[in-house]
Amino acid sequence: MGLQVVGAGLGRTGTLSLKQALEQLLDGPCYHMMEVFGKRDAIDTWQRAAEGESPDWNTFLDGYVATVDWPAAAFWDELAEANPDAVVLLSTRDADGWWRSASNTIFAVRLGDGEPGSDLDAHRVMAETLFRNTFTASWQEEGAAKAAFLAHNDRVRAAVPAERLVEYHPGDGWGPLCDALGVPEPAEPYPHVNTTEDFRLMAGLDEPG
Ligand code: A3P
Repeated sequence: MGLQVVGAGLGRTGTLSLKQALEQLLDGPCYHMMEVFGKRDAIDTWQRAAEGESPDWNTFLDGYVATVDWPAAAFWDELAEANPDAVVLLSTRDADGWWRSASNTIFAVRLGDGEPGSDLDAHRVMAETLFRNTFTASWQEEGAAKAAFLAHNDRVRAAVPAERLVEYHPGDGWGPLCDALGVPEPAEPYPHVNTTEDFRLMAGLDEPG
C-alpha cells in the first residue's frame, strides 16, 4: 500500500508523539529514528543514503504506513515522489525553541564510545554524516543550525502543493492529522512524549531523581 504520510519535519518537532498518533490513526507502523537503533542493516542503508546512494525506498520501507523524524525526513522529497498519494507532514516549531530542544537532546547525546565498527559507532557516524550532508556541516552551531532548520522548512513549503501539505505544530493535537487523513478524532488525549527531560534521562545525560 505504501506510505500514507511522509514526514518532512526534522527531529525535535514532536515526531515521537506523531509516530504514536499516526500508528493509532493508520493502524500500521511509522518509521522514526527509534526504528534504526541497533539495526545494522538500517544504519548502513541510511549511511549510504546520506552519502548520496538512496535505496529503493518502497522496498526498504515496505510495510510502513508513515515516516517521521530524521533520518527519513532528510529524504522527504524522494519519499514523496515514490508515494504520490501520501500527504507531506511538516512538523515544525519556532527556531529558538527547536534549537533549545535539539541542542539539549539529540545534538548533546554522545552515542557512546562504541568500538570502531560497532553498531553504536556506526549509528553515530551515520547521524553525523546525515546532519553534515543533508542539513548543515555546522549543525552544532546555533546560528547555522537555526538557519538550516528554517531553510529546510521553507524548501518544503515552496515545493509541496498546498493541498498535499499539512503544516503541524506540537500542541495542535489530533485535528489537523484527522482532517488530512479523513479519519475520526480519537477520544483519548493526543500523546506528549520525548520531552527534553524524558530524552535526557533515557540517553543518560541526566541522572534520575
Ligand atoms: P521539548 O524538548 O521542548 O520538550 P521529537 O519527538 O521530534 O524529538 O520532539 C520532542 C519535542 O516535541 C519535545 O520538546 C516535546 O516536549 C515536544 N512535544 C511532543 N509532543 C508534544 C505535544 N503533544 N505538545 C507539545 N509539545 C510536544
